[in-house]
Amino acid sequence: MKTTRPDRNLHQSDQGADKGTEGERDEMNKRLSVSGKAADFRTGLKVAIDGPAGAGKSTVAQIVANRLGYLYIDTGAMYRAATWLALQKGISLNDGDAIARAVSEAKIRLAPGDEGSGNRVRVFVDGQEVTKEIRTREVTELVSPLSTLSAVRRVLVARQKELAREGRVVLDGRDIGTVVLPEAQIKIFLTATPEVRARRRVKDLSQLGQQADYETVLKEINERDERDSNRSDSPLRPADDAVMIITDNMTIDEVADAIARLCKQD
Ligand code: DC
Repeated sequence: MKTTRPDRNLHQSDQGADKGTEGERDEMNKRLSVSGKAADFRTGLKVAIDGPAGAGKSTVAQIVANRLGYLYIDTGAMYRAATWLALQKGISLNDGDAIARAVSEAKIRLAPGDEGSGNRVRVFVDGQEVTKEIRTREVTELVSPLSTLSAVRRVLVARQKELAREGRVVLDGRDIGTVVLPEAQIKIFLTATPEVRARRRVKDLSQLGQQADYETVLKEINERDERDSNRSDSPLRPADDAVMIITDNMTIDEVADAIARLCKQD
């Protein structure tokens, strides 16, 4: 399960950063929507979780962030919001510069999800909630080609770096350990076989009230993996110093425990 150990270049002050009661941490996570300035963050760990769709990244990242009292940033949701915005504005999905301009002018805000809603991050674009809209089949199909556009990636990566600047963050995505936070002390690459990921996706979609056929979802996952892994800008791949976790036979809690242990050891 493990390839290499993550870098260990923590400062003394990081060790004491994980303080406070559960209640205080929850409160802090609630207060700190991603768009807010993380004014009361002390320097702390940066945790990068990468991997293909359906490996369980976002669920695990959210649990790890809650346990550590860190801010969780779902970077896939930012690419999805950019896709929704382009569709909304009628911008051609091939026009990277126009989409990048629209994204840089827009306010994309992520906020902690409600307990009852599967705890998905809530997403707002210029004040309008698009949490559900960014998870539709249409956006899911279009986000992968959109994420190949370098101009769009530049804008979003710069925002992600800024949001993570103070540390005490968990980011999940495809290029976090390699491009967004190459300096992250903890890098995880979560993966699972396409068949297991397709079964999980079908279950997730049905919980969102969307019917999906397993074979179709599997085909889409394989296509998305192919595109995400072979694009020229920031392809999906494990950082050299990432810990690889294959989640086929692991529960979400087991994966979260393994990552939280790595964070505490550092
Ligand atoms: O994690 P997700 O399925 O919500 O991500 C949606 C798409 O965004 C995915 O096809 C790849 C892309 N993405 C990316 O290119 N880089 C990231 N850091 C996060 C997501």
